[in-house]
This record gives sequence, C-alpha cells and structure tokens, in this order.
Amino acid sequence: MRGPHTAIMKKANLLLLPGLLNDARLWQKQVEDLADLAHATVADLTGSDSIASLASAALAQAPAGRFALAGLSMGGYVALEIMRQAPERVLALALLDTTARPETPQATENRRNLMSLAETDFQAVQDTLLPKLVHPSLLQDASIVQVITAMADGIGKEAFMRQQRAMIGRIDSRPFLSRIQCPTLVLCGRQDQITPVEVHEELAAGISGSSLVIIEECGHLSTLGQPQQISEAMRRWLEAATA
Ligand code: MLT
Repeated sequence: MRGPHTAIMKKANLLLLPGLLNDARLWQKQVEDLADLAHATVADLTGSDSIASLASAALAQAPAGRFALAGLSMGGYVALEIMRQAPERVLALALLDTTARPETPQATENRRNLMSLAETDFQAVQDTLLPKLVHPSLLQDASIVQVITAMADGIGKEAFMRQQRAMIGRIDSRPFLSRIQCPTLVLCGRQDQITPVEVHEELAAGISGSSLVIIEECGHLSTLGQPQQISEAMRRWLEAATA
C-alpha cells in the first residue's frame, strides 16, 4: 500500500512515428519496455504525400497536451516538421536513424526507379530494400524479416507511393535545428546504410544540448535490430526529460 509520502510518478505521453513501410510493430518492444514510464501512441503515417500533412495528421493523432516525440527515419523527417508546426507540444525529442538533409537528385532518381518497379512488382521493391534495413547478421533471422515483410505488406503499394512522394518533397531541416530547445536524443545504428552515422553527428551538432548514441552491430531499423539497447537509451532520455 502506498504511504502518504510515496511519490506517484505521472507517466508521460509518448508519440512514436514509424518509417517507410512501417507500422506500430516497429516500436512494439519499446512500447512494452517503457510502459511503466510512458503511455505510447504510434501514429499512422500512410495517408498523405507531403511531410507537412503527415506531421499535421500525426499531431491530430497525438494525445492532448504535451508529449515526448520519437521518430525513426521517415518518422524523423515528420518529427522535425512537428518541431516547426507545434514545438510547444513536444517535451522531449528522439531522432532515430534519420537525417535533417533534404533529398539529393540521386536519391530522387532511386526512389522514382523503385516507384516504377512497385507498379508491377511490389515484392521486388521489398526485396531490394531489405538488405539496407538491417544489420547483415539479421538477414537470416526469420522473426525480424517476417515482421518487416508483414509491415510492408500491410502498408501496401499505394501508401508506399505516397510516402516516397513525401520524402522526395521534403525540405532541408538543417536551418531549423538550432531552434530545437527540448531535451533531444539522436541515435543510430553503426551500420545504418540509409542514414549513416555522419548525418547523426550533423543532427547532434545542430541541436544544442542533444546527446548522440551510436548502437554497435546495428542497422537502419534499430528498434527491431537491437530493441533492448534502444529501449534503454529511450528510458534514459525519458527519465531525464521528465525528472
Ligand atoms: C525509412 O526507413 O523511413 C526510409 O528508408 C527513409 C528514406 O528512404 O529516406
């Protein structure tokens, strides 16, 4: 039984933003591991083809009041846009396996090729992406590959097209980094091939007081590849932000 002086910690609200072709399963382990600290909501980022409208949609799905915000990859692009649209709502920010940089012409060309391929063979798109998403040691791990495949099948080709158009059109978030005032965690897998370590060093350098965590033996989808380490880093971030 609680005595009169027992502190009752109020849980923070936590809004989690998935990446390309990901759904709530991307964050499942973190939702479970952090349940004592936070009420988590995973936003659906499938409904529109601009980062600005995905951010508005995520804000509409967010709990009332202030929340901690974490985005992985495309979810990070959306998180950076939320920091422009509603910074007062965000009590702490975590940017995982993402970048503040805009699209390059080469990246746009690659996306357009994948979109053409998706018209006829969405499975081939998934097969092309998979080796870039996880650490090579996990490519034979059926449990992880099955989750990635099930998420992509569930999201489907039409939402994939919208997400690609949104990412092609995204703006350069680097000029806005210095405006971010809340406690910020920047995290990536050492072997992230899509958003490598150097772009996280740039993010961390641009956001005053942020901390940079690099997870060893870990690829792009860090929450799936090294779930425990990501949960631990997010626990430290949430505890510090809500202390
Ligand atoms: C993601 O995981 O959200 C995407 O790979 C990001 C991107 O393609 O830029």
